[in-house]
Amino acid sequence: MSIFYIFASALIALAGYFYIQLNRKAGGDYVTVSGGAHGKGSGHGSPTTPAGGSSPNSSTDNKEVLVLFGSQTGTAELFAKTLTREGAKMGVPIKICDVESYESFNLEYERLVILICATYGEGEPTDTMKDFHDWMFDDCRAVGEELANVKYTVFGLGDRQYKYFCEEGIVMDRRFDELGAKRIYGLSCGDSGGGQLEEQFDEWCKDLWPAVGRALNIKIKENTEEPVEPECRMKYWEEKEAPLPFPKTASVLEPTQRLPVWVPMMRNEELLKSVSDGNSTLAIDFNTSDTIISYQAGDHLGILPCNSDELVAEYLKVLNVSDEEAGRVFSLQDKKTLKNVFPSRVAPRTALKWYIDLAGVPKKSTLRAFAHCCTDAAQKEELLRILRVNPEAQNEFAKLCKKLRTMQGFLRHFDSAKVPLSFFLELMPRITPRYYSISSDILSTPNSVGTTIGIVKGGLCTSMLARMQIGDKVPVFVRKSTFHLPLRHKERPIIMVGPGTGVAPFIGFLERRRAWQQKGATLGKAILFFGCRRHAEDHIFEEYCTQALQDGVLSVLDTAYSRDQAYKIYVQHRVKERAAELWEMLSAGANVYVCGDAKFMAKDVDAELKRVVEVEGKMTPEAAAEFMKKMETEERYLKDVWSSTL
Ligand SMILES: Cc1cc2nc3c(=O)[nH]c(=O)nc-3n(C[C@H](O)[C@H](O)[C@H](O)COP(=O)(O)OP(=O)(O)OC[C@H]3O[C@@H](n4cnc5c(N)ncnc54)[C@H](O)[C@@H]3O)c2cc1C
Ligand SMILES: Cc1cc2nc3c(=O)[nH]c(=O)nc-3n(C[C@H](O)[C@H](O)[C@H](O)COP(=O)(O)O)c2cc1C
Ligand SMILES: *[C@@H]1O[C@H](CO)[C@@H](O)[C@H](O)[C@H]1NC(C)=O
Ligand SMILES: *[C@@H]1O[C@H](CO)[C@@H](O)[C@H](O)[C@H]1NC(C)=O
Ligand SMILES: *[C@@H]1O[C@H](CO)[C@@H](O)[C@H](O)[C@H]1NC(C)=O
Ligand SMILES: *[C@@H]1O[C@H](CO)[C@@H](O)[C@H](O)[C@H]1NC(C)=O
Repeated sequence: MSIFYIFASALIALAGYFYIQLNRKAGGDYVTVSGGAHGKGSGHGSPTTPAGGSSPNSSTDNKEVLVLFGSQTGTAELFAKTLTREGAKMGVPIKICDVESYESFNLEYERLVILICATYGEGEPTDTMKDFHDWMFDDCRAVGEELANVKYTVFGLGDRQYKYFCEEGIVMDRRFDELGAKRIYGLSCGDSGGGQLEEQFDEWCKDLWPAVGRALNIKIKENTEEPVEPECRMKYWEEKEAPLPFPKTASVLEPTQRLPVWVPMMRNEELLKSVSDGNSTLAIDFNTSDTIISYQAGDHLGILPCNSDELVAEYLKVLNVSDEEAGRVFSLQDKKTLKNVFPSRVAPRTALKWYIDLAGVPKKSTLRAFAHCCTDAAQKEELLRILRVNPEAQNEFAKLCKKLRTMQGFLRHFDSAKVPLSFFLELMPRITPRYYSISSDILSTPNSVGTTIGIVKGGLCTSMLARMQIGDKVPVFVRKSTFHLPLRHKERPIIMVGPGTGVAPFIGFLERRRAWQQKGATLGKAILFFGCRRHAEDHIFEEYCTQALQDGVLSVLDTAYSRDQAYKIYVQHRVKERAAELWEMLSAGANVYVCGDAKFMAKDVDAELKRVVEVEGKMTPEAAAEFMKKMETEERYLKDVWSSTL
């Protein structure tokens, strides 16, 4: 009996664990995992996704407008929340749902769907939207009739610097139409690279509401500058010590974003040869011997950053939170659903440190809500005025934002604003993980993970990493990618393009090749294009690569120093110079890897590679494009690119 009992409780514990795993989301919403008791009263999901489990067939539900969001780093989620709040203020029956927890088979019963979704990877959906995307594109969908009773509109988020701008928004808009849904308002694509994303969204919203009113045949309230009603309240607990935001106990399961593992920093070294203006690129390694982290060179390390204690103290002051209150354990509850907003009960000091992005650029939607907390009428009017949607106001706001930089700056400037702590915690953007290409290999260093970090001035995560001392711990997890060496074809030639910090994963690749070499494998030719400003300043990993060359782990290292001569030389120029050699490798089935800045580099290299195929392969432009496309589908042309500045 007792053995059975133990067995059963173990099963229940495991089931509880997997329940948490299943409920994890990439957005800023959480499962409660604190207090040790997973089962008992642990709120799950987020108050922003109350529609998650409810049946949209009930008579009230399908009258509501459904705001669906697909978000990776929280921007689309924030927009969706703002939109829902605005809609409710205007008298629109409205609900919000993370596309990850939406039951797709209910789609045909929805009345009006507003989809807000970001594009990731190479024109792909976010992790949270993959299932919904596949469901929509399933061949069994009835084209032209399935969604005949549904009305919809789409706002896509993207970045023009990527090859497939806003691809997910564009294909979703088209697919709803194909399935018979009625578009009530045109698709719009926001460009997060241009610094005008929030303005573009505001513009889109302006005419959205009248269209929603017409579609639902309801009257839309005009005044939108009414105060925002708080949706959450703080509930205080008698616990003495605030638990940590992520459990520090070691787990037998692979760490995830929801349950990351704490690892100590074991190396933090400057890689730049000469440091000026505070520019810095660090080699940062974490000791993973006490964890079961597994990874491959080319995967990403997700790091959950926190704000500095000094910054937290400054915010506590601005928010007029006393020392005593800053230490009182609370949970933030959604008034309607009673669900917890944060993953654990914490003290305000811990919440500000680990959950709220205090260092980022303030969001206009948040400031609009805070404006109503100004006790001085003139200040309130002034703040609301510069937040309006017109070119002069937008100009003025941009200028002020440059000066004040963070929310703290705004709260000091508009000093009559008395923002209640719970309102602040409810509306401020959440901290999302930052990803870093892993620059080590598990075969050669099984007990550590290495990263190459370009320090960003004012950046949340990189500033934290730069501050950390050897032995300090951070919560991390691994996000698998497809950016890997051809593991079963060690003899296949590889072409690597990685200027700046983009060289990071290739250091891991070279480590892996070294391990293969030591085991006696025959390695294919490997060429690395590296670029930086000046040889004497920022040629990182030069010694490492030189050694790799000597050892035959790397066949060719070709460098482009952009500023060491009167004219600019970039990696794509080096690619061009080696056209014949590259074509020889490509026609022998080489893999191509591009890593680093999405801004110009990835596009320019892509164009240059296409030209190589065209000229050297004697192909028409169409045939060359086809050749490149085929390499992509065969996963022989892989990109790991990111925007270096937002
Ligand atoms: C798949 C992937 C792989 C990556 N790999 C690497 C890698 O190997 N190495 C690497 O170094 N990076 C890598 N990155 C980038 C990295 O994830 C982070 O985006 C980067 O380190 C910045 O993080 P942060 O928290 O320091 O800056 P954030 O706080 O996110 O700030 C981002 C931007 O906003 C600006 N900003 C922040 N606050 C303000 C403010 N108050 N006012 C005005 N501007 C502000 C910053 O200047 C910066 O440009 C990768 C990204 C992705 C998506
Ligand atoms: C790794 C990565 C890949 C991306 N790929 C694309 C892309 O292919 N096309 C595009 O338009 N935008 C792309 N983006 C930009 C995002 O869609 C954009 O930043 C968006 O605002 C993010 O929204 P979110 O915060 O809701 O996830 C990419 C961003 C990252 C970090
Ligand atoms: C909604 O109703 C339809 C038919 O009326 C049914 O097939 C479907 O399962 C229902 N969905 C839910 C979630 O109840
Ligand atoms: C350091 O960064 C500044 C801007 O942030 C830039 O103007 C300067 O050229 C950089 N120096 C080096 C050596 O990269
Ligand atoms: C890593 O951690 C383990 C266990 O905590 C320790 O024994 C080992 O010395 C550490 N390694 C380094 C290089 O710090
Ligand atoms: C700060 O809070 C205290 C107590 O909560 C209150 O008495 C005081 O008036 C507040 N100060 C300001 C500037 O709001």
